[in-house]
Amino acid sequence: MSTSADRDMAAYWDRASQAWVEHQALLDRLMAPIAEAVVEAAGLVNGESVLDVGCGSGATTFAAAWRVGPTGRALGVDISGALVELARRRAGEDGIEGAEFLLADAQTHAFDPVFDAVVSRFGVMFFPDPVAAFANLRRALKPGGRLAFAAWRSPEENPLSLIPLRAAAPFLPEPPRFETNAPGRFAFADQARVRAVLEAAGWREIAITPLDVARPLSFDELLTMSLRVGPLNPILKDAGEAVRRAVGEAVAAALTPLVQDGVATMTSACWLVTARG
Ligand SMILES: C[S@@+](CC[C@H](N)C(=O)[O-])C[C@H]1O[C@@H](n2cnc3c(N)ncnc32)[C@H](O)[C@@H]1O
Repeated sequence: MSTSADRDMAAYWDRASQAWVEHQALLDRLMAPIAEAVVEAAGLVNGESVLDVGCGSGATTFAAAWRVGPTGRALGVDISGALVELARRRAGEDGIEGAEFLLADAQTHAFDPVFDAVVSRFGVMFFPDPVAAFANLRRALKPGGRLAFAAWRSPEENPLSLIPLRAAAPFLPEPPRFETNAPGRFAFADQARVRAVLEAAGWREIAITPLDVARPLSFDELLTMSLRVGPLNPILKDAGEAVRRAVGEAVAAALTPLVQDGVATMTSACWLVTARG
């Protein structure tokens, strides 16, 4: 059954995915080490089958496909048609064997129980019912299968998320707020909540460790991440020209001190979570 929360999230990603399609190369460059950390933590070996949840344009699915080799299988699942289409196109263009993509809601899709591992880079924080979703993902595993995913720690530990919002707030009628107990980017910031969700969904041997990744980026890339990819993007799309300009200038001014010799550093503060089904 599809609830209004499910439909809201699907509609949200329908819109948000445009930015992820447009800025795929930048996002993949900034987050490549996180995909590698996830597939490493999953302990994938040749010939295994792996499910990548909320796969977006496929970077983690491709990293997993390399690990399991041509005799293995990596299936990326995503709720956004635009991102699944891009992932399929990239797999074809790059000739990546063993990577397939499925357009489906990972919370409810009835997966065959054929996977050795479930992985995700930032694709599991958006479920309206996370316990139901993680129970569903556990059913996709063969007995004793593994889980490995990355999720953001708190907004305070990820200042490049907070600084643009704070700079934009005076110009917006309703500034966006990050919630750490509801579906969204920071839904799993509280590691006690992550553990409780996974335990309630039947996972065991749960381990949650900090993962911090620092990547260089230019001032223009920093602005793109702040205005075009993050939570300000949908708000600015709907805003008038005057608000867009005022927010752009305020965000640029707030970010300028972070840039030295044309280069800033984006530090991603995440949890690396592993468990067994
Ligand atoms: C932050 S993006 C991460 C994308 C990708 N894993 C990456 O790292 O580039 C979150 C992704 O989760 C997907 N998503 C959200 N809810 C989902 C659901 N219920 N089932 C499948 N995918 C979902 C979104 O469409 C989006 O592509």
